[in-house]
Amino acid sequence: MIVSPVHFPALPPISGGSVPLPQLSQRSSYAYERGTWAMLEGLMAIGKLRDKKVLTVWFPDYFCAEPLELFKQFSINIQWYPVTTELHPDWDRINAMDQIKAADAFVLVHYFGFPNDLEHAQEFCRDRSIALIEDCAHVMVPFGAVGSTGIISVFSPWKFLSVPDGGVLSTHQSMSQYVTVYPSIGRWGRWGRWLLKRELQRVCSGMGMNWFYYRQGSSSAQGEAQSVVSQDPSPTWLSRAFIQRTMIANSSIATIRRANFHDFGRRLQHQAVVTPLFESLPDGVVPLSFPLRSRALAQPIATALVKQGIPATCWPRLPEIVQNNVQGSSGAQWLSTHLLFFPIHQHITQKQIEYMATTLITVCSA
Ligand SMILES: Cc1ncc(COP(=O)(O)O)c(C=O)c1O
Repeated sequence: MIVSPVHFPALPPISGGSVPLPQLSQRSSYAYERGTWAMLEGLMAIGKLRDKKVLTVWFPDYFCAEPLELFKQFSINIQWYPVTTELHPDWDRINAMDQIKAADAFVLVHYFGFPNDLEHAQEFCRDRSIALIEDCAHVMVPFGAVGSTGIISVFSPWKFLSVPDGGVLSTHQSMSQYVTVYPSIGRWGRWGRWLLKRELQRVCSGMGMNWFYYRQGSSSAQGEAQSVVSQDPSPTWLSRAFIQRTMIANSSIATIRRANFHDFGRRLQHQAVVTPLFESLPDGVVPLSFPLRSRALAQPIATALVKQGIPATCWPRLPEIVQNNVQGSSGAQWLSTHLLFFPIHQHITQKQIEYMATTLITVCSA
């Protein structure tokens, strides 16, 4: 039986939860407006360290186009390496790529908060004197070796916490002389608009309006409405203060997200229409969302689910060059057309999880 549609909250204004940030020895952290800015400033620092006017950086081809728009404005030569449909770097094909020898930096993404091939990437980069960058935009806080292995690692706490902006760059302390740091700013308009949107969402949903249907297109795999990267790298001081406070204090966010992940996964067992991308939840992982592989194309399913009030999403647009590389980027293209993402954040209730699972099975079986 399908329970009646329920309101799905996005991350609302400041909630009480927080997470411990393990002390990273010999590393420094800096706040920026977004993870995109944190990455850019980290790349610039590597450029200074290596005394390079143009930095050649290899990104996985399963990557969203938006951050690259900013990088293109700077002296960064973007190259692509293929990923498998399991989201790992396709090492056999990468090893066969002659041009990778000229790489300055290699970006490893820990997709959706799950550790990627860190040891392999570290060895690969060490053997070729390439700087390893850990893209932890989907990782809430560093854990194990995740987030503290790359010469820089980049976090995107605004995706996990109730704030409109906030990216963090973590570097080896030896890099600090090369990092440009920006003061945090007020920008109350941004906070005001964000709070207004959250309130509007709460009121509309309370009146039974399907918020996500009307906002279609503005949500993403991050489970939150994506704002456009600003031209200003500074974080707002309120976001920065909140991120600092919540990342140091103790938290229930990780526990709730993990419990929601297990709950949703359990409800999808014993059916053949969708398969979880990750079968288990290793210790330390705080999932960004619940990714599922769909047998059919994901977009029509997401559209049907949004009509039912469920904020299911697909991966944001791939870079054009990847989209056009039908053979070379077949893994990324398959992932972008067949993965669906479901919110399991700290404000989702059990009832909503039950509704998501039953509606998903019904829509996919139709
Ligand atoms: C893998 C990955 N890296 C980096 C970014 C950029 O992070 P932010 O949204 O904080 O700018 C994103 C954002 O969508 C992402 O998915």
